Amino acid sequence: MYILGIETSCDETGVALYHSDKGLIHHSLYSQIAMHNEYGGIVPELASRDHIRKLIPLIDECLQHSQLTKADIQGIAYTAGPGLIGALLVGAATAKSLAWSLNIPSIGVHHMEGHLLAPMLEEQSPEFPFIALLVSGGHTLLVEVNGIGLYKLLGESLDDAAGEAFDKAAKMLGLAYPGGPLLSKLAEQGKANRFKFPRPMTDRPGLDFSFSGLKTFTMNTLNQTEQTPQDKADVALAFQQATAETLAIKCKRALKQTGLTRLVVAGGVSANTQIRQILTEMVIKQRAEIFFPRPEFCTDNGAMIAYAGCQRLLAQQRESLCINARPRWPIDELLQTNE
Ligand code: KG4
Ligand code: ZN
Repeated sequence: MYILGIETSCDETGVALYHSDKGLIHHSLYSQIAMHNEYGGIVPELASRDHIRKLIPLIDECLQHSQLTKADIQGIAYTAGPGLIGALLVGAATAKSLAWSLNIPSIGVHHMEGHLLAPMLEEQSPEFPFIALLVSGGHTLLVEVNGIGLYKLLGESLDDAAGEAFDKAAKMLGLAYPGGPLLSKLAEQGKANRFKFPRPMTDRPGLDFSFSGLKTFTMNTLNQTEQTPQDKADVALAFQQATAETLAIKCKRALKQTGLTRLVVAGGVSANTQIRQILTEMVIKQRAEIFFPRPEFCTDNGAMIAYAGCQRLLAQQRESLCINARPRWPIDELLQTNE
């Protein structure tokens, strides 16, 4: 069964073709970053308009590259939320109309479920059950995953998401949007151990996170320096290391608490090299296993939506022709419906 996946929740138009037996056939991505860069962040209306311009040509390109036609598609998966309402509606309306015209089913996918299942696209994919650390621009979640749709929320950020903290810290360091990857690049020039940043909420029990204090600490530390390029690189490294170690401490706790031995790390921030390294070292010490998606599937893409939608369609989930988009869609609600 060929499934078309459509991702338009934020600033990336992602399209993919996934086959239930053959795996991923092809995926195409168009990033709007250059367009939003000028404004220092995402302009929602510009995002929606650009998705409209790019989505159909990307679908055509994906089909052509795969030597398939629309008639070969047997189901369509689209991101139904959470995300920017206008951007989501472009994907939802396109998916529903195309599915109606082809007389095939369509299914709305939770964006974070897409991220959570992205490592399944890799040759070495994790078996269930596992712990998933989801670190993106909008969410930081620790989830116990017992199967497709069998999720238990263990912890989440009480304020900023990890990616949001990276982006805000990067802005303080004078870097462009989105700052996460640029901060990471700057940190490569940093000298370790010059500044000691806190590891928020690690001194008390529980699996929740808080990153807004790290952001303030970054600002205060920076203001105490002359803000030379070296000062900025040292602050970037200290921030990144504190974030990575905080994530590692909570993941170790989640593994211990549940007795599970597999950790999946996904979402945009999981592309960060130092975070991957520190989490890997922790997991090895715990005699557990760790799984990441390849870097291009850490950030938003159509492949993860096609995969998640395919699993749901195979489980015979169907939805009406109503156009669904949920800009706010707590993952707990998805969890409850599956418990
Ligand atoms: O998952 P994603 O592409 O979109 C959302 O669902 O939010 O995540 C985007 C976030 C941004 O905050 C971006 O700065 C961050 O992921 N990010 C990184 C890196 N690559 C992307 N943060 C740190 N290091 C990176 N290499
Ligand atoms: Zn995402």
